[in-house]
Amino acid sequence: MSSPTFFPVTEEVAAAAWVDEAKYKAMYEQSVKDPDAFWGEHGKRIDWFTPYTKVKNTSFEGDVSIRWFEDGTTNVAYNCVDRHLATRGDQTAIIWEGDNPAESAHITYRELHEKVSRLANVLKAQGVKKGDRVTIYLPMIPEAAYAMLACARVGAIHSIVFGGFSPDSLYDRIVDCDSKLVITADEGLRGGRKVPLKANVDKALEKAPGVTSVIVVKRTGGNVAWNEARDHWYHDEMAKVSAENAAEVMGAEDPLFILYTSGSTGKPKGVLHTTGGYLVYAAMTHQYVFDYHEGDIYWCTADVGWVTGHSYIVYGPLANGATTLMFEGIPNYPSVSRFWEVIDKHKVNIFYTAPTAIRALMREGEAPVKKTSRASLRLLGSVGEPINPEAWLWYHGVVGDGRCPIVDTWWQTETGGILITPLPGAIGQKPGSATLPFFGVQPQVVDNEGTILEGATEGNLCIVDSWPGQMRTVFGDHERFIQTYFSTFKGKYFTGDGCRRDEDGYYWITGRVDDVINVSGHRLGTAEIESALVAHPKVAEAAVVGYPHDLKGQGIYAYVTLNAGEDPTEELRKELVAWVRKEIGPIATPDLIQWAPGLPKTRSGKIMRRILRKIAANEHEALGDTSTLADPNVVNDLVSSRMNRG
Ligand code: PRX
Repeated sequence: MSSPTFFPVTEEVAAAAWVDEAKYKAMYEQSVKDPDAFWGEHGKRIDWFTPYTKVKNTSFEGDVSIRWFEDGTTNVAYNCVDRHLATRGDQTAIIWEGDNPAESAHITYRELHEKVSRLANVLKAQGVKKGDRVTIYLPMIPEAAYAMLACARVGAIHSIVFGGFSPDSLYDRIVDCDSKLVITADEGLRGGRKVPLKANVDKALEKAPGVTSVIVVKRTGGNVAWNEARDHWYHDEMAKVSAENAAEVMGAEDPLFILYTSGSTGKPKGVLHTTGGYLVYAAMTHQYVFDYHEGDIYWCTADVGWVTGHSYIVYGPLANGATTLMFEGIPNYPSVSRFWEVIDKHKVNIFYTAPTAIRALMREGEAPVKKTSRASLRLLGSVGEPINPEAWLWYHGVVGDGRCPIVDTWWQTETGGILITPLPGAIGQKPGSATLPFFGVQPQVVDNEGTILEGATEGNLCIVDSWPGQMRTVFGDHERFIQTYFSTFKGKYFTGDGCRRDEDGYYWITGRVDDVINVSGHRLGTAEIESALVAHPKVAEAAVVGYPHDLKGQGIYAYVTLNAGEDPTEELRKELVAWVRKEIGPIATPDLIQWAPGLPKTRSGKIMRRILRKIAANEHEALGDTSTLADPNVVNDLVSSRMNRG
């Protein structure tokens, strides 16, 4: 029996949803025909200190300038916290679920307000001013949300670094944006294991004297080194300051945060998001895509170190006055039923996770899911990488008991919020398709020459006009912003993704078409991993590609050429794996390292990655033309040693 390939919107879901099919069509049409009127209206969903009179002022040509609601003033923390006090001060804003199932907490909007105001005062007492950068390197504890909101409150620009990044990666990110202050914890806790966050910060700061204060949250109580002149316990500082703090008046285009993300070349770049447009877009997509209604318990399993955590754990949900669940742990600790147990414990209605987690849990069979109720669930979401239909059907049938629509949401760090997605009451789902654009989003498919492809087709995914949540620049390097996103196809935002559009106009994201790989939903540049490898004293050259991986989506495949005289031993292989983990962090651990006496290069010396990708994927028959290579024999050697490894 073949599986269904279309899941229509049920009448029941459509009737209860914010948007049904007719409304989606009408709103979408208005959003692209008259963006000023559309966003002029929807921009009012947040509170403005000074209302805007201008709505959209954007250009993808020339210098590329993106401005939304530019003469309005507001404050993001005010919108996410203060404005809810009158109506929902005693409502839970954050449900925190610890790594250990015995630990959880409920934080009301009133408590959130007190914490954020105090922490804002702590930042001020440390000399942080509007426009200063603050690096946040925290585990998934409520203090991470307090820290983000406290920065927003005083107008500081936060840069969160995921706790799985190494001291070197942390150092790069601190120095690039010139942070003066770092907020961290003694240790993190994940899956029962401790993560030495403060020790990593200490190491990173050995080379970064510009950081004058480190605020340390006590999470585990583990032993940490202490620099009296620089380090401050969070709880001590919070006790010293007042709980009164007036939110700074921010321009709509004042920066809110920087988030580093990998591209096809060079070091990760600081994606810069600003205040008004970002918040309007995050909040609006959160409401419509997840069909969020008052009283819903909403859980996004991402880490706040990624954009998903920014927009859909903290900013979108809190701007909407929602109850957002923040989970410190991992899906398989203490058991592979953990997600489903947390859903039952907190009566979660909306659940948003990544395909990699779904695939890993699917491997464990139905029993760990079925022993839980999950009766509270109403809607499921997926993000971060293409979801294979098999995983989609399992998510739908087993996790959702066939009852919950799935929103497969396609977006990027750069887009700030979801761009292509089903709306549950409006758009029927096809397993594996991100379906149709959100309001105001105009996708276009082009071939490699930039010719626009119409109808059912396949090619490179571009977006032709701006939406409010779009990144504004690369921090400190506007030229790189233009080069990276607007020069491949002039006048269009190029996503770096390939896609297919079917006869119903549905989009199917096929994955990156550049040198970015997506490992378990984490984005990595092959160039970054290569430069980590060649930094090892025994390595002469390295080329890294992605290859299909059952659980991770893509795995990391590294071809390594050693210096003359070095032996390609198993021990060295392990040493290189450990080296990359140390240089970048565990998320960049190579899955396979193949010794390569030579790499396939063109006569001009360019590495032919296309060929390396095929060899890694075991597609040896489809290598294509290798006659232009400087030394075609190199390929035969690589293929035979790949085949010997199976
Ligand atoms: O390739 C796409 C993939 O993730 C990339 C963006 O990664 P990042 O900036 O880390 O943001 C991830 C979370 C928004 C995209 O270029 N991607 C993300 N969501 C999907 C996806 N690919 C297919 N389907 C999705 N739903």
